[in-house]
Amino acid sequence: MKQQLENIRLQALSSLDAANSPAELEELRVKWLGKKGELTAVLKMMGKLSAEERPIMGQLANSVRAEIEEKLEGRKAAIGAAVLEAKLAAEAIDVTIPGDAVTLGHQHPMNMVLQEVKDIFVGLGYQVVDGPEVELADYNFTRLNIEEGHPSRDRSDTFYFSDDDSVLLRTQTSPMQIRFMENHKPPFCMLAPGRVFRKDEADATHSPMFHQIEGLVVDEHITMGDLKGALISMMRKIYGAESEMRFRPHHFPFTEPSCEMDMQCHKCHGTGEIDGQVCSTCHGEGWIELLGAGMVHPKVLESCGIDPEKYSGFAFGMGLERMAMGRMRINDLRLIFDNDVRFLNQF
Ligand code: PHE
Repeated sequence: MKQQLENIRLQALSSLDAANSPAELEELRVKWLGKKGELTAVLKMMGKLSAEERPIMGQLANSVRAEIEEKLEGRKAAIGAAVLEAKLAAEAIDVTIPGDAVTLGHQHPMNMVLQEVKDIFVGLGYQVVDGPEVELADYNFTRLNIEEGHPSRDRSDTFYFSDDDSVLLRTQTSPMQIRFMENHKPPFCMLAPGRVFRKDEADATHSPMFHQIEGLVVDEHITMGDLKGALISMMRKIYGAESEMRFRPHHFPFTEPSCEMDMQCHKCHGTGEIDGQVCSTCHGEGWIELLGAGMVHPKVLESCGIDPEKYSGFAFGMGLERMAMGRMRINDLRLIFDNDVRFLNQF
């Protein structure tokens, strides 16, 4: 029996030394120390020993068990450490490898131009305001002196919400003139940028949704000279000190007198042609129409409770897309709304 115990000791220790995974160790623990294991089998035979031999063998068996247990614990710790080491090595991150650069976006070209225009007018003392896109016909037309039956009220031009044509998508930012004057006493300088909607087919220069920037100044002794001064100084800041503009007489029901302002074509510099061909940007005109403007009609002032004998004012409404196209040299309006990053990346 002594020999048997010695064999168990030697075999168990060497098999534990050879094991190299937690699963193998567990298998060996069951094999050597388990209830049906080798050592237990030997211990079961103890009963057959003589009374003198029994304690000696018992002691030997215990020391063999203790030795195997100790070895087992030692191997468990060693293998655990090796497994951890391997895992750490496999999951190692090389923090010195250069990272993937994050590509940052930037503002849409329309927003860039809007921001420039706002900055200029804020610098001139204007207050920037916002208003509803779903508007009452009353504000969009009637109170702007645009009578029933006026062609711009036609159902083929305007998106109406109600059968009685009283609610619509605003066709211009001019209703903001009325909304502002209802709540403010002169003197004031107001700027109202926003979206407007018209039933237009989309082409190189039209879109059913586009942006306007409305301006309104009311005080005592405001003249057409103030209007021209404000618009020329804005244009020179945006298009450069050399840029040329012209004012043409025009008609709007809510301004009197009224005008339109054109800027010289940035493509052909006013000649109307490029290399003997008609300039495609201004269609040979040499000028590009940018905005409508005029002196606020006395009827409009009066309807908002402002005395036209005491106060006068000017108003303008410009197309932001037109401005952006000139500023950014964009030749097709649809590019602005397509959101193709190959286009947007150029700005
Ligand atoms: N609302 C006019 C348009 O859309 C432009 C305008 C604004 C004209 C203010 C005069 C005064 O064409």
